[in-house]
Amino acid sequence: MDRLANVSLLIHDLDAAVTPAGSGPLRGGRFGELRVHSPASIAVSGDRIVAVGPPEEVWRGFPVGTEFDSLDGRGKVALPGLIDCHAHPAFLGDRAAEFELRSSGAGYEEIHASGGGIRSTVAATRAGSEEELQAAVERHLRWMLEHGTTTAEAKSGYGLDLETELKSLRAIRAAGESSPVDVYPTFLGAHTVPPEFEDAAEYVEFVIQEVLPEAAPLARFADVFLERGSFEAPEAGLYLQACRERGLILRLHADQFSQRGAIPLAVKLGARSVDHLEATGVEGARLLANSDVAAVLLPACGLFLDLPLPPARLLADEGAIVALATDFNPGSSFCESLPLVMNLACTRLGLSPAEALCACTTNAAHVLGLRDVGRLAPGYRADVLVLDAPDWRHITYHLGGDRFAARIKSGQVL
Ligand code: NIG
Ligand code: FE
Repeated sequence: MDRLANVSLLIHDLDAAVTPAGSGPLRGGRFGELRVHSPASIAVSGDRIVAVGPPEEVWRGFPVGTEFDSLDGRGKVALPGLIDCHAHPAFLGDRAAEFELRSSGAGYEEIHASGGGIRSTVAATRAGSEEELQAAVERHLRWMLEHGTTTAEAKSGYGLDLETELKSLRAIRAAGESSPVDVYPTFLGAHTVPPEFEDAAEYVEFVIQEVLPEAAPLARFADVFLERGSFEAPEAGLYLQACRERGLILRLHADQFSQRGAIPLAVKLGARSVDHLEATGVEGARLLANSDVAAVLLPACGLFLDLPLPPARLLADEGAIVALATDFNPGSSFCESLPLVMNLACTRLGLSPAEALCACTTNAAHVLGLRDVGRLAPGYRADVLVLDAPDWRHITYHLGGDRFAARIKSGQVL
């Protein structure tokens, strides 16, 4: 440790501090590689980690007479704050009635095709004020943080007109500023075709000409729902290209129900990720494995809709960059808990706890283009979860029970 570091917080005598190894995303044979410091202390200066390691070594680096806050880690373990790289928290209203319909047999795609689904949330989101929408995003971020999420993506996409898309992106930005969670906004202008347009091509033309120029400065990423009933590859390609020209990083909702050319398109355009992939086969997995396009898997969505889950083992074994996320949204995954997603990854997708941890930390950081979160290591942002459990695997093992003794964001104990 830098002997002159001005330590502001010491988390001392943890049973262990557990972190993805190395740097950057972990794939292939390195996916799931962890570094376990046991026992461990973590020293923080301001918003950064300055030391992680054996307690006596961390302690030895302290300048004499330093005053700092301390947290007793005995019987507990530390993990990096979780990163939710695919979430839709900017919506008003709910879909409880649709949930009830589905419970009696109605299908998600059927409800969408009859004008409900995403379009009903679009109507509710258009009807509310910017203040209401900001309050909703803030509430959803609080829920996520309770479950250990310290960094999140937030998509628009329930506006689908100029006014409401901009309102959504501004609400996301304002909520991100008022919340401890760091938020990265995505323009999901091509979520589905809104009711006032009949034709996907005509709507995409409108988005490119009228909405994108004003939305692009408010977002980091652009996203599209490439699926039957929303956008096919030709329109999605036009939209994504226009977004890329405006400086946005590309993401795709793809292969959720059917394969329609999304993976080759994503690879061709140099997208950052394709997300969902429930319908992906060997060919698609190999294309991803031979590219830097990440595979973002959303198992809570398949659980919530009682639909197939993505071929996580195939993607991981082929060597794709695999991340996990909640897909938090009111229709297909009303779930804000990454620990629940990690549990599903282990019980239903065949990933190990270590792979699930990498997928929600360093690999998710890669999806968001972040290099200083997702690990417990000097120089990284001090986003730390102190798990009130004797073994780090409890974060995946304890179904729906996120027992945190502390959540630390940017060096602040929350
Ligand atoms: O990721 N697939 C498209 N979008 C969301 C669902 C949106 C909704 O149903 O409101 C998803 O599943
Ligand atoms: Fe989604």
